[in-house]
Amino acid sequence: MESILITGGSGFLGGALIVRAISKHWKVFATYHKHPPQFDDVNWLPLDLSDFSSIQQIFQYSNPDVVIHTAALTHVDWCEAHQCETKLVNVLGTEILAKLCQEHNTRLIYVSTDLVFDGEKGNYSEEDKTNPVSYYGWSKLEGEKLVQINCENHVIARSALMYGRPALRGTSFSEWLRTTWAMGKITPLFYDQYRTPIEVNNLADALLELASNSFVGTIHLGGSQKIDRVTFGNILARILGVSADLICKVSMKEATNVALRPQDVSLNISKAQTLLRTQFLNCEEGLQKAYET
Ligand SMILES: NC(=O)c1ccc[n+]([C@@H]2O[C@H](COP(=O)([O-])OP(=O)(O)OC[C@H]3O[C@@H](n4cnc5c(N)ncnc54)[C@H](OP(=O)(O)O)[C@@H]3O)[C@@H](O)[C@H]2O)c1
Repeated sequence: MESILITGGSGFLGGALIVRAISKHWKVFATYHKHPPQFDDVNWLPLDLSDFSSIQQIFQYSNPDVVIHTAALTHVDWCEAHQCETKLVNVLGTEILAKLCQEHNTRLIYVSTDLVFDGEKGNYSEEDKTNPVSYYGWSKLEGEKLVQINCENHVIARSALMYGRPALRGTSFSEWLRTTWAMGKITPLFYDQYRTPIEVNNLADALLELASNSFVGTIHLGGSQKIDRVTFGNILARILGVSADLICKVSMKEATNVALRPQDVSLNISKAQTLLRTQFLNCEEGLQKAYET
């Protein structure tokens, strides 16, 4: 049985990966930082990515065949306001992990983001020029570069916005909508911001397929549909049986976020569609799968 180490097992994507990896018969090690999940089918390891010895210890203990590195500081506005902490965790922690993977002959799948692009063009392919507009996007891009330099057997998997239900912990855009609407509150949604959102289990399947194959390089993983947030919200509202009146259409220009947001970071997923057996869902399919049960 091959072993896999999932960093950020207590996060939204990490939880989905753990559950899918167990069902695919991987021996699973997973890390948490501040939130140890209550789930016993996994070898849990504490990890602080800003602490060199902590990263070394998890490696010594697990000695994995593959690492899927999802752990990161992910709140875009928090990262903008806390650049030093973000650099330690997202950049330097990733560098140490990449070096250890190289030393131990371990395959490294690094989960990056569509926010490495500036959103001026859309439909971004793997060859397009990166130009992040937020510190979070910059930190993930620096992580990409350090993975490329330090670990030969690597994949840089740039994910689009994730949605769906949490398997263990964490939350998503669709969960924020569902819980806000459940309180009867109206949600402001952009009608002029475009992404290619991906259902979290769909993403986990693609990442686990990459863990098992021999592809090396950068690959875009997203849903098969470019969509604005209002249209996404309307699909979810219909599936949940919630009134579309709970959606307030607003422009990105009206936003008051700390960090800048790009307008169109839709990903071109042709490479993944050619390379992988995983079928990439559109929002209707993904939201139905996540919420129609
Ligand atoms: N969410 C999205 O829509 C999206 C889109 C594109 C790319 N991504 C990328 O996908 C990955 C997973 O995202 P997510 O939404 O699942 O993230 P998340 O739910 O915010 O989880 C982040 C994980 O990182 C861990 N972590 C935080 N600080 C740490 C530290 N100092 N040392 C070690 N671990 C630490 C957290 O542990 P504790 O909770 O235990 O503290 C948690 O397990 C990230 O790399 C993110 O950049 C996310």
